[in-house]
Amino acid sequence: MAWKATGVAWAAFAPGTMRAVNIDGGTYLLVHLGTAAYALDGVCTHEGGSLADGTLDGPGVICPEHAAKFDVRSGAVLADPDAIVPPTGVADPLTAYRTRVVDGMLEVELD
Ligand code: FES
Repeated sequence: MAWKATGVAWAAFAPGTMRAVNIDGGTYLLVHLGTAAYALDGVCTHEGGSLADGTLDGPGVICPEHAAKFDVRSGAVLADPDAIVPPTGVADPLTAYRTRVVDGMLEVELD
């Protein structure tokens, strides 16, 4: 595991917002909930929707394509596409990554 720069200044990352960042060829979703930042895979496990284009709903992010909902704190599936409840749904959990702030900049811990 290695800490990677996101290029995101913590002071400029407003609570209740999210954004996509590209790091080492991967797309990741950063979410600022309250006083904490969370990082997840940025691509939906269903059919590849861009989660940064989705909607934040409390601690959940809703995919803009077919409305799968994931817990931004853990990556767990809260609602599968088309409101099919797990485990019969088809979306897999997202991988969640640790975050930290160093010298005012947000970092994520990746493989
Ligand atoms: S691509 Fe995300 S719910 Fe289908």
